[in-house]
Order: sequence, then structure tokens, then C-alpha cells
Amino acid sequence: MTHNTFALKGTICFSADAQRINIHENSWLVCEDGICAGVFSELPKKYSGIPCRDTGDCLIIPGLTDLHLHAPQYTYRGTGMDLELLDWLNTYTFPEESKYRDLTYAREAYSIFMNDLKKSATTRASVFATIHVEATELLMDLLEETGLKTYVGKVNMDRNGSSALQETSAGASAGDTRRWLEEIRGKYRNTKPILTPRFTPSCTDELMTELSRIQKEYRLPVQSHLSENPGEIAWVQELCPNTRFYGEAYDQFGLFGGKSCPTIMAHCVYSTEEEIALMKTRGVYIAHCPQSNTNIASGIAPVRRYLEEGLHMGLGSDIAGGSSLSILRAMTDAVQVSKLRWRLVDDTCKPLSLEEVFYMATLGGGSFFGKVGSFEKDYEFDAVILDDQNLPHPQKISSRDRLERLIYLADDRNIVGKYAAGRKLF
Ligand code: GUN
Ligand code: FE
Repeated sequence: MTHNTFALKGTICFSADAQRINIHENSWLVCEDGICAGVFSELPKKYSGIPCRDTGDCLIIPGLTDLHLHAPQYTYRGTGMDLELLDWLNTYTFPEESKYRDLTYAREAYSIFMNDLKKSATTRASVFATIHVEATELLMDLLEETGLKTYVGKVNMDRNGSSALQETSAGASAGDTRRWLEEIRGKYRNTKPILTPRFTPSCTDELMTELSRIQKEYRLPVQSHLSENPGEIAWVQELCPNTRFYGEAYDQFGLFGGKSCPTIMAHCVYSTEEEIALMKTRGVYIAHCPQSNTNIASGIAPVRRYLEEGLHMGLGSDIAGGSSLSILRAMTDAVQVSKLRWRLVDDTCKPLSLEEVFYMATLGGGSFFGKVGSFEKDYEFDAVILDDQNLPHPQKISSRDRLERLIYLADDRNIVGKYAAGRKLF
């Protein structure tokens, strides 16, 4: 035991697996040096006298992971919901992201984003920035201060952008990426770089070749978009006539998973059998973004199928395709769209359960960050304290039902405490 040992006391909930949630009422959760030492119904003797935060009747859950979001798009969330992906990008996204060339604007906008992320139930996130090196570093500086654990990517795009938002060549894009990686080398504890080709239509083969070299040199993880929208998929087929399916457009450059290239692909609404098989072989993480898929009318991803295949999967807010930063909300949305898919598309795929979406938001997505998303011994200590006193009920309800109600009904008022890797954020 070290001096950096403490306990939280309350009703402790975490996934056993995708089908079961362990619930320990009136129990202690012990943290030693940022690592979970276990859940105890009686505090073991060796811990007697350690500092304890007694949360009373609160629920304590693992910190949530947002596997996919765009920080610069936080400004226009909840607006511009009248278009599909490609027109939406050209009309709203690219003009907004071009503003981050201006560091004064970037500081103001990213500060708002950072403050809201801090208050949320999210402790881990994989974040797209923009093509701009300075603004990306500014975002990393701000996130580092929050204590949240994040991956941040400077975006690469050397084609099909706009005059205001596009890098001038593959060489310029790769050069800026290398400069960014050198400038942040060794600078942060909580904030790590992730290679971020926006999506295939934004990146020439020449750029993908450069990014493949950079990925190997710096041993970086990768994040991008995959099979989100029918128009996008048809466009990728035109741009890459040599590929059999979209995922191959990344895979041919070694940017699609595998042991030395952990990869997150957002959406996967229309992945073909071959694409699904390759994601499974390569261990690609799918970021399921149900609210975005609804808002910009992309469709409903076959999540039941992915769970049955045992694919790695987490939830993403996909701000600003998704309008809410809340991963509690993403859990609700995932359940709801799965019901529509079951009713309207394929009645052999039963809807997602609360247990399954809770798993995706915690262990499922968290595992991209290592031993994260559980209160089993040896997991990094990410915890969120949820208070449901403002949601009174005339009867005593079960802890499982309280958890479900909080997932459906909670807002920032219910999130009363948060720890990331053992550090108290509030
Ligand atoms: N595909 C390429 N860029 C984007 C983006 O910013 N948001 C979403 N949802 N899809 C994309
Ligand atoms: Fe996205």
C-alpha cells in the first residue's frame, strides 16, 4: 500500500461481460497509485485509515469512453441537421474547421469544448482536431490540463476539401504531421497522438503512402471513418477502383488494424461481409455513433451482428454529426436505434440490452486504451459518481433500475464526481 491509496464508498456497478453488470451495494472501491485494487464489501484491514469518499447512496460506474468525436465541430452541434454526409461536410463542416487556422478562435472554441467534456461522464476519448498543427497542439494543451486521457489527431486531407480547408499536397500534409509529432514529443502525460486520415475521399494514395511510413516510424494508432453513407461508399469505389470494399482502401496502406497498428473506424453502417471479416482479423475497433447516424441520416449499423462476431466495439458521440457529447445519451440512442433496426430492417437481430450498451461504453471502448473500463483488480482507476436524488421514485427500486434510469435521464447535475487514472477531477 502506498500513500496514494484511497477508497470510494457507494453502489459500485461495472460490466462482468457484455451480458452482465456486477453490482455491489454499500461497498468500497479501492485505488492504489491510479490502479484499481478491487471492490470490497468490508474494507480489508490493510486499508483501514485510508482516505474514503463516502458517496452515500450514489452509484459509482467506470468512466465512459468516447471512441469518436470531432472537437472543432462542437461549436455547431445541434445545427445544420438538414443534409446527408457529403453535402453536410461541404456546407457546414469544412467552413467551420477552416476557422481553426486562427488561434484566437481556436482557443475560444476549444475552451468551451474542453469545459463541457470535463463535466461529462467521459474519462477517455479519441478526438479529431483539424488540419492545423498549432490549433491541434493548443487542443492537446487544453485537454492535458483536464486530466482526461485522450488520443488527439491532427487531421490529414490533401484532396476534395475546400480552398480554405485542404493541405496543398501530400508532402505538405505529411511534413506538417511530422512537425506536429516532433513538437509534442515527450510533452504530455495524458494526451497522445493518433494518426488521422480524415477518410479515403480526403487523402490521395501518395498521402496514404506517407502516412503509412509515419505510422511505422512513430508506432502510432490510427483513426478514420468507414462505410458511413451510401454516397460516400460509392465515391470511394470510384476513387479506388482496385479495391473490393472500402476497408481495403486503408488496408492496402497498412492503416487498418493489426498488432502494430491499433485502429478505430467510425460508423461501419454498411460494411460488407468481406469488410467485417477483415475488421475481425485485424482487430479493428468500431466506433458506433448512433446519434450521428440518425442526425445525418446515415442509417443504422448492424451492431447485434458485430457483437455476435466478437468485434471490438465502443460508442462515439461523433460531435457534430451527433449533437450530444454525452455517452450516457449514446447508450440510450444505441438501444433505441437497435429497436428500429429490429422492427424495420431485420427481425432476426434482437435489440441491444442495457447490459450490452453499458459494456460498449465502458470495457468495450475502454480496452482501446489498455486495461480501462472495469473495476476488476489492476484496471486503471477511471470512475464516475452518479447521484439520482433529483430523480425521486415513490418506491425503492433496484440498483440495476436506478442505473438504467440514470442512463436515460441523467444530465450534468447527476454527475457529481469523476476520476481518471486515479486522479480526482471533481
Ligand atoms: N467523414 C469524413 N469526415 C467526417 C466528419 O467530420 N464527420 C462524419 N460524421 N463523417 C465524416
Ligand atoms: Fe466522425
